[in-house]
Amino acid sequence: MGLLSGVNILLGISGGIAAYKSPLLVRELIKNGSEVRVVMTPSAKDFVAPLALATLSKNPVLSSFTSTDLDNPVWNDHVELGLWADVFLIAPATSNTLSAMAQGRCNNLLLAVYLSAKCPIFIAPAMDLDMFAHPSNQKNMETLSSFGNKVLPVDEGFLASGLQGKGRMLEPKAIAMHVIDFFNPTLPLKDKRVLITAGPTYEAIDPVRFIGNHASGKMGFALAEVAANLGAKVILVCGPTTEKTQHPQIQVKSIVSAMEMFEEVKEVYPSVDIAIGAAAVADYKPELVAEHKIKKKNNNISINLVPTQDILAYMGTHKKNQYLLGFALETENELVNAIEKLQRKNLDGIVLNSLQDPGAGFSVSTNKITYIHSNKSIQTFQIQSKTGCAEAIFDQIIKHDS
Ligand code: CTP
Repeated sequence: MGLLSGVNILLGISGGIAAYKSPLLVRELIKNGSEVRVVMTPSAKDFVAPLALATLSKNPVLSSFTSTDLDNPVWNDHVELGLWADVFLIAPATSNTLSAMAQGRCNNLLLAVYLSAKCPIFIAPAMDLDMFAHPSNQKNMETLSSFGNKVLPVDEGFLASGLQGKGRMLEPKAIAMHVIDFFNPTLPLKDKRVLITAGPTYEAIDPVRFIGNHASGKMGFALAEVAANLGAKVILVCGPTTEKTQHPQIQVKSIVSAMEMFEEVKEVYPSVDIAIGAAAVADYKPELVAEHKIKKKNNNISINLVPTQDILAYMGTHKKNQYLLGFALETENELVNAIEKLQRKNLDGIVLNSLQDPGAGFSVSTNKITYIHSNKSIQTFQIQSKTGCAEAIFDQIIKHDS
């Protein structure tokens, strides 16, 4: 069940360059379970193709008061559209559309729906920085807020004009989060801070070589996305990986070595509610890092390895009220070893995965997990996507942490 299951969202697109992001917004809303229909202003069609929006939303896209069916015009009923919608989301809302809405003008279908809709209305403005700052636009946004509309903030950054500043439309995920928040005021992890370590660490041998492992970071990123979708603010400390996230509630801190990961974790850990060690941290590092590339010779060489800091064990020792979860990747005596690890590192729970299970492990996108809680309750899950595993893990955390 998505966080927007059963919610009808009418997306209104007006004619600004940010409209090129609308297909992503439609996907984001649908991914969360909502039904989406789209109305566009005629000029929005210059920026994004109605066919793309109709294909993604699986509904016809409307942009005028009438359509042609055989040789009879058919009225596109703006009243019906407004009644169908549980929320009308206008994104992007251009300066022109904001001004028309503030003044009650009605020269296109989007504006007619706006004037007749009784549902909550979200507005995501998008314009250039000077336009955004202009008192007329600021006044229009104030007026629209005073009518009870939810005017979303804008992003700051690179603008289509080439200038830098405040006025960019929020990213699709961030817009969807505002709608999700509205329909889910009691998200289970709302206002919680979650720290997740992910990926491998690389321990330098010389300037070009390192000791690493095959971890992909996929499990840690899946955990971060699920936590953020449940309302949490996530700090994701991750080693070298190709995984990416655009989620507005996930702050990524990229590191390379175990020591760098430890430094980030030490700083953030006291302020979080939940911490998860999903990283495959190198257990050993070279005692000395060669200053220059080690040259090939015809003799054996050896590298003296010393232990790295056990980051999870540090969190266990310094635990206050955090719920602390670790991972155990085992190849033999799985349950016994995992329970021993849970106790040794003072954890509240540990997720066991065995490399003996086909479809589980580092670089695949599925996993098979067993969740062991410190009260010794054990729950085994079927092989499933890493996102499915992450959802099951947070179900367990929420159950045991409340
Ligand atoms: N871990 C960590 N810092 C380390 C080593 C491990 O934070 N230096 C964390 C991992 O993120 C994982 C848990 O500890 O959550 C267990 O990692 P694992 O490699 O399975 O166990 P180890 O403690 O390293 O023990 P062993 O390798 O002997 O099984």
